[in-house]
Amino acid sequence: MPFYHTLGQIPPKRHTQFEKPDGGLYYEQLFGTIGFDGMSSLLYHIHRPTMVKEVLESVAMEPKLAVEKNMLSRKLIGFDITPVDDFIESRVPLLVNKDVIFGLAAPRRSMTEYFYKNADSDEMLFIHRGSGNLRTLLGTIPFEYGDYLVIPRGMIYQIEFNSDDNRLLYLESHTPIYTPKRYRNHFGQLLEHSPFCERDFVLPRDLETHDEKGEFLMKIKKQGSLHSLVYASHPFDVVGWDGYNFPYGFSIFNFEPITGRVHQPPPVHQTFQTDSFVVCSFCPRLYDYHPKAIPAPYNHSNIDSDEVLYYVDGDFMSRNDIAKGHITLHPGGIPHGPHPGAMERSIGKKETQEYAVMVDTFRPLMLTEQAMRIDDGKYYKSWLE
Ligand SMILES: [Fe+2]
Repeated sequence: MPFYHTLGQIPPKRHTQFEKPDGGLYYEQLFGTIGFDGMSSLLYHIHRPTMVKEVLESVAMEPKLAVEKNMLSRKLIGFDITPVDDFIESRVPLLVNKDVIFGLAAPRRSMTEYFYKNADSDEMLFIHRGSGNLRTLLGTIPFEYGDYLVIPRGMIYQIEFNSDDNRLLYLESHTPIYTPKRYRNHFGQLLEHSPFCERDFVLPRDLETHDEKGEFLMKIKKQGSLHSLVYASHPFDVVGWDGYNFPYGFSIFNFEPITGRVHQPPPVHQTFQTDSFVVCSFCPRLYDYHPKAIPAPYNHSNIDSDEVLYYVDGDFMSRNDIAKGHITLHPGGIPHGPHPGAMERSIGKKETQEYAVMVDTFRPLMLTEQAMRIDDGKYYKSWLE
């Protein structure tokens, strides 16, 4: 997050002695990304963050691929994935390439037995159903329906749900997830034409500081495997921190759509960027107001990217036979567009109530075995009249 945030107590000068009230020094940790070049935070721990007691088993988590060279437009029935108690086990990778894993999850239980971090990827969770708290070593972020949670790589967390009925979309991005560059000035501040601003972000709060020794299981995703390490002190033992590298929340309901007299292209919906894909939010908005406007999108050839749409709520104007939790994949290389009747249907309409999350990847996506189990198999013919 390109702005400064701080919680708890920190010493007035970095890299200097920070004394505990009962003697001894706190342990400083620089927590950054992209070597020493990216955003970082400075953390102050009660105990050394390096006290590994034991290394247990490692489990391979690489997605099993079913279709590596996909040329079909697809529709996946997202709510058909099975709810599973455990948060990590509930994750179902569906669409993957070298840069990103796109999946869905229906976790039933809070994470209480262990702590988790993803050392491979920044994670983005989109909350389609459910609410709770994302508890991290830098503080807590409450979440509810419609929230994006952006969790930088390496961030230790537990996730707490208020009920057992949860539906999440998740992305694991091997390059950092940022807000779009064109909406930020030289200093990182979001500009006036940005569809959201700093006030819309939910920052970590209520720093939890546990001074506990014992055995604490940490599951770490690295190189596609899940490693289990036992630490000798509670992972949430930070008394204070400051910096730019921290998780945050952003509600899709705070995205302010950009509209025009004629149809605006998908980049106006952009919410996040990475080096290898973009994330866009389609939100309720007034339609184009030229007297001859066609609110439905024109056919387009996303020749250089695969386009994934996850349908959240409302009536999706350009598509027939789409319901909540459905995913459409429009592969690069062939054009796609509104379904038969959608263009005519859209003329004269004043507004839409749709919510959807779009992910456009610059490299083609491959389908996993789990994706094929929820593929409707006939979507690619749905434009035939
Ligand atoms: Fe499209």
